[in-house]
Amino acid sequence: MEPTDSLDELLTCRLGAGRRPVMPCTLVIFGASGDLTRRKLIPALFHLFSEKQLPNPFRIIGFARRDKTDTSWREELFANLEQFSRTKPVDKETWTAFARNISYHRGDLTDGSSYRSLKGLITSSGDPHLRANLLFYLAVSPSQFAGTVKHLSDTGLLTKNEGDAHWQRIVVEKPFGHDGASAHLLNASLTHHAHEKQIYRIDHYLGKETVQNILVFRFSNAIFEELWTRRSIDHIQITVSEQGGVGSRGGYYEEAGALRDMVQNHLLQVLSLIAMEPPVTLEDESIRDEKVKLLQSIRPMREEDVVQSAVRGQYFAGIVNGKMQTAYRQENKVSPTSNVETYVGLKLFVDNWRWSEVPFYLRTGKNLPLSASEVRIQFRPVPNVLFAAQCHHDLEPNAITLRLQPNEGIHLQFHGKIPGNSMELRPVRMRFGYDTEFGAHTAEAYERLLLEALAGDATLFIRRDEVEAAWKVVDPIRQCWTADPLSNREFYAAGTWGPEASDDLLGGSGHVWRNPASYP
Ligand code: BG6
Repeated sequence: MEPTDSLDELLTCRLGAGRRPVMPCTLVIFGASGDLTRRKLIPALFHLFSEKQLPNPFRIIGFARRDKTDTSWREELFANLEQFSRTKPVDKETWTAFARNISYHRGDLTDGSSYRSLKGLITSSGDPHLRANLLFYLAVSPSQFAGTVKHLSDTGLLTKNEGDAHWQRIVVEKPFGHDGASAHLLNASLTHHAHEKQIYRIDHYLGKETVQNILVFRFSNAIFEELWTRRSIDHIQITVSEQGGVGSRGGYYEEAGALRDMVQNHLLQVLSLIAMEPPVTLEDESIRDEKVKLLQSIRPMREEDVVQSAVRGQYFAGIVNGKMQTAYRQENKVSPTSNVETYVGLKLFVDNWRWSEVPFYLRTGKNLPLSASEVRIQFRPVPNVLFAAQCHHDLEPNAITLRLQPNEGIHLQFHGKIPGNSMELRPVRMRFGYDTEFGAHTAEAYERLLLEALAGDATLFIRRDEVEAAWKVVDPIRQCWTADPLSNREFYAAGTWGPEASDDLLGGSGHVWRNPASYP
């Protein structure tokens, strides 16, 4: 018999071999002085470069208002990399080789002449690919998305086409609009200058390994997908809890709140992958078609449904992880009378054949006891005979938990007999952990996302109809909440699992929240 390792090797199915090649190109980062650039984008590009995944030649141009030279920007980026890199210490030699591809362009996003000089810089490249294959990364404020794209188009740096020998693409950060109407306008304005296929709307959750694994788990294993319907599943819980508060982002958060910041994008994306129908192929459009259909099947909430099925909360001072946290209303740049929610709990229904009447409970919040994201698939209870008849409520239904982060893994809970002469049962777990199975794998979501955008694969990005469908789910909730100030029951102490009302959300159906464990 073959040793296990070589057997695993033989059985590995390498889909990546079919990945589109990444052509030599220029990446322009608008918002080069910003947080995202230094914390995420440059470290991700550096790691892709170290792993020889970037094309050769390759050029990065940072565009921002501050006065810097190529050398001073590189020095700044290096200092930041030493702080934010996922591998430390940073290899100096690799950095020097990487930094040769980086330059800085001082410019004002609202000034046409800045784009003309940018064009001069890009066209000065000796390599025709660097002049014509262009990825524009908009790491700027959402109010600047439309204007920047218009300028790029006016200057001739961006041409609307589906991509031929050469290509130009735009990567847009979230939030994409602040409601359905504004997202629609923004879409109209971007697609006036660029084809939909040239627009890559980011949701960094889709770059996470465990989120990508949802489709693999569902559609490469016969045993789970057979059970993935209302016939076997009682309800589904999606929890994205964060120990941190809003920190220095109070100004942004006052505009966003948890509903726009987390639910409209990350939680609904996870829900759509968990619940969508099998796509026709693994092509980006096939997968996105199914996600859109799923989002469109979510039952819209009327005003009376919001009262029953949507819970919001805001944290007041409390202890998280042994440390006192201030109340949201006392955070920097937050109004002392703010009604913005830092917690959301929802009970949603997907009105289609597969999921009819199965509740999907979603929740997310800041300053909760633990940072953990997971999806719990809770199966129907066994019939009330034999063990169930004797154990009554002590017999837990089976559950599959997909732990998205941290301690990434999947576990299945079922019952076992406790060894001994008496007949005692308790839940036991069968666990697959990424770390034990694959060793440390730490690639950041942004590495994968940048690579896919460079390769022109849009699977992990949000399509126009998808973003608008997601807004349709959250808009009615937002409208009801905006009209009403928070009541006393809607506050929760930092370090607890949200407001009291969040338990009532499930209680009516006899369900309870399953809080993620600190280690599953
Ligand atoms: C961002 C939100 O999109 O996601 C933040 O704006 C949130 O408020 C973050 O903290 C969570 O991401 P992650 O990858 O840490 O789960």
